[in-house]
This record gives sequence, structure tokens and C-alpha cells, in this order.
Amino acid sequence: MQKVFITRSIPQPAIDYLNSYGYQVSVYRKDTAISNSELIKNIKNSDAVISLLTDKFDKEVLDQMKNCKVIANYAVGFNNIDVAYAKKKNIIVTNTPDVLTDSTADLAIALVLACARRIVEAEKLLMQKKFTGWAPQLLLGMELKNKTLGILGAGRIGAAVAVRAKSFGMKIIYFNRSRNNSLEAETNAKKVSIEKLLSVSDIVSIHLPLNSETFHLLNKDKLSLIKKNSILINTARGEIIDEKELIKLLKKKNIRCAGLDVFENEPNLNEEFYKLKNVVILPHIGSATEEARTNMALLAAKNVAAVLSGKKAITPV
Ligand code: DGY
Repeated sequence: MQKVFITRSIPQPAIDYLNSYGYQVSVYRKDTAISNSELIKNIKNSDAVISLLTDKFDKEVLDQMKNCKVIANYAVGFNNIDVAYAKKKNIIVTNTPDVLTDSTADLAIALVLACARRIVEAEKLLMQKKFTGWAPQLLLGMELKNKTLGILGAGRIGAAVAVRAKSFGMKIIYFNRSRNNSLEAETNAKKVSIEKLLSVSDIVSIHLPLNSETFHLLNKDKLSLIKKNSILINTARGEIIDEKELIKLLKKKNIRCAGLDVFENEPNLNEEFYKLKNVVILPHIGSATEEARTNMALLAAKNVAAVLSGKKAITPV
């Protein structure tokens, strides 16, 4: 009987799906990320693993996998897995694209609105019973119409954010390796250099994968190009921004507000984030909708079943 190990509880339909193939499915049931030693213990003899973005599959871990044919990552990002080394070991790696695009794009727009309209600050004022009545200058924000949204990374999620932003009357520019013709047709977006994007956008939203090219892509130099008083949104990966430099800019109020769903060292945030007023911070919930998480789980399970039945993976990376 082929063994499938799942590193944490995921929606039941995926487990039912795997059971219908007769696999021996085991799930790490503690409600914390699995430790490295527990991970190694459990994957040694597995034929397939469904992993989370919090599980690190480096050389040391991959070398422990004796029978594994597929690691199905329950995420669209796969920076937690040494894919090149997995390939050498003939382990197929898959991810969960498409099914979380809308949820993540919705959250990016939620952060845009929260930053532009100072939603969190406004709620705090009310909850602290400091609301003394309507006032002409109370919590003035920024309108989105006619503002420029710069999309860093015009893949599926970046494009979905652009389409939503278009409906707010925003102008779209994007930075991407290749041209995205359908995005241009749908939103009239223009491809520009990263330097231009940072210097003219009123809102910058990051939708790049994390890899050696994008690690600290927004370093001190690039961050210094960001137009004064603009908004920076990150729902991709924290490591794309040099957080220490971002914090300096936020303190100087060079950036109006940062809306961040992801951080360099999750779950341990730089303490400064808790003190800043011009941030909206969320605990990595981009794909956290019932729809997305169920479909991510099912897609991971289908990838496992495809590979274990000798077929092609559905969404290999
Ligand atoms: C992903 O899938 O990479 C997201 O970060 C999960 O929310």
C-alpha cells in the first residue's frame, strides 16, 4: 500500500480523495508547524508528501526520503523546497496555482483600501472610545480613482489585482520579465522598468515568487526610489523586501502606508512593526478562504494521485 504523509491537517475532501485511491494516509495532527525532526521521521518511507510552505525541504531533508515520488506543496509559492535537488532525486514537486488567485487578489485589494482609507487606524480610534464626532479633517485618506497602481510581477495574482484595480478607475503599470498581452488588453496596462514603476506609482503591489533573483529585490536603493506618500502592498513573500530598510522609510513617513500579509521571518515579526501607525499587518492569510483552501487541498491530493498512478503531475513546478 502506498503511503502518503500530510504535514498538517488540511481540508477533509483531500483526505477523502486520497483514501478513495486506497493509499495509507497519515496526517500530522498537532496544530503547529511540524518540527524538522518529526518531519524527517515521518517522510522516510512515504511515497508522497503533502507539504506546507512552513516545511523546509532542503538537501538534508530530501536525502532522508527513500521512496518519495512527489512532494505536493499546499501553496503556490515553493521557495521552501530545494526543487533542483528534488529533481536530481527524481522527486516531482507540485504547487497549487490558480485556485488561490482570486482569494489572494481580494486580500491585496483589501490591504490597498485599508491603507488608502486608514481603516485600521479609524477602527482603533473608535474602539478606544476617542471618536468625538464627524470632523472635516478626521482621518483623511486617498482616493483610488486616477491613481497609478504598479504591479511587481504580472503573473496570475498580479493580473487579477490589476483587473480589480481597473474597476476602481486606476491606471495600471507593471514590471515583469515578459510582456503580459492579455493583461494589457484587459486593463490597458503598460510594461515599465522596475525603477520607473517605483518612482511613479501611487500604490505598489508585489506579486513575485521568492527566489535568488527576488530576495531583497526591494533593497535600500530600490526602496529609496518609491514615490513619496505612496502605498506599498506585499502579499507575496516577506523576503522580497529588506524589512529593516522599509521600517526606516515608514518611520520617516516617506511611505504613506505599508499593507503587509507576509514577513521576512514569520511568525516572528520585527518588533518595530507593532509600533508603527502607518502599517496594516496581517498574519499571512492571502489564500485563507474556505474556497481556496479546499481547492488547494484537492489540487495537492490530485497531484499526489496522478504521480502515484504513473500519470503526469497536474501542476508540476
Ligand atoms: C502561497 O500559496 O504561496 C501563499 O502564500 C499561501 O497563502
